[in-house]
Amino acid sequence: MNKKTIRDIDVQGKRVLVRCDFNVPQDKKDLHITDDRRIREALPTLRYLLAQGAALVLMSHLGRPKGKDEKLSLKPIAARLQELLGRPVIMADDVIGDAVAAQANALKPGDVLLLENVRFYPAEEKNDPAFARELVRLGDMYVNDAFGSAHRAHASTRGVADYLPAVGGFLMQKELDFLDGALNNPRHPFVAIIGGAKIGDKIGVIENLLPKVDRILIGGSMANTFALANGYAIGDSLAEADKLDLARAMMQKGSRAGDGASKLVFPVDWLIADKFAADAQAQVVDVQSVPAGWRILDIGPETLKLFETELSVAKTVVWNGPMGVFEFPKFANGTLGIARYLATLKDCITVIGGGDSASAVEIAGVADKMSHVSTGGGASLEFMEGRVLPGVEALHDK
Ligand code: 3PG
Repeated sequence: MNKKTIRDIDVQGKRVLVRCDFNVPQDKKDLHITDDRRIREALPTLRYLLAQGAALVLMSHLGRPKGKDEKLSLKPIAARLQELLGRPVIMADDVIGDAVAAQANALKPGDVLLLENVRFYPAEEKNDPAFARELVRLGDMYVNDAFGSAHRAHASTRGVADYLPAVGGFLMQKELDFLDGALNNPRHPFVAIIGGAKIGDKIGVIENLLPKVDRILIGGSMANTFALANGYAIGDSLAEADKLDLARAMMQKGSRAGDGASKLVFPVDWLIADKFAADAQAQVVDVQSVPAGWRILDIGPETLKLFETELSVAKTVVWNGPMGVFEFPKFANGTLGIARYLATLKDCITVIGGGDSASAVEIAGVADKMSHVSTGGGASLEFMEGRVLPGVEALHDK
């Protein structure tokens, strides 16, 4: 990363304002944290800063509250963070204001204060300078370690960087190094796997990746739209009828200059269901012939084999988006099969975009076999689209 990091600043005796992404999934009933990976991934930065003699003022959002909402309080995060850090985490009652400023002022090296959910104030998402200046009162320098929120130009991710020395944390650095390395300096063959529901959501990624990759394997219901664009029968499957021209244009663009062969690799068979339900009847059919009344919920076994063959020679793999409805065990084979196959690859950099693909490698039990599993859903998607992330851009250059 060409931005300054916490290794480039002296934090001894300073109050460091650290933006983390503690936006973690919680059980709706008792609010217990169902996946604490984002909190665990923040620990190296927090531990390092504490070991260097800093006091920490931590900020994060949680969910998308409309004003103050006790259900989206960061209190459960404070409790979990305290366990993981093995030292007290003081939970602030608010985000800004004199009481919080007094708490921040009283911090000694080694103390940790967690502010309430920054989105309790609509000014956060508006990147309101007055709100950013209130946050700035709480620290002497600013560290952004919230890669997952780096695509948001909010007060805590972007605004405060206008007023304080601003550097990246270790998680931010790791995310950018892996994503940037894979996309802009890949070892070849470079194979991308793109899935998910909508072409519209992934078109920017495909367009940005096409000139860089050797192959893009297409799965998920996005592949249905390509199938429809080819004139195949897709039964009752989800597809974007208004994106057929776009799909055709993409297929055109996917043709390699030299031999005309396509960089885009599509499914050759599907696993289809008679209804959208976990207990649906399932059968494998050829890619061109989904009967009426049936819908595509996963790639078929021949497609998985085809994709594995493409992946077997890869030296760099980037994956974003599931191959099917992997929430239903009967239709999880394509997605989990890809995850398990990636885990067997030797001498290959495997970078997993956040969100559903990150969940898939977790469920398959192979997350620790990947070179990198991103903590950013929207952020990694925007990075793969080649967009500048405002939370990164604002940090000081090396
Ligand atoms: C995420 O989960 O992708 C980030 O925390 C950003 O959340 P947001 O989409 O609500 O801004």
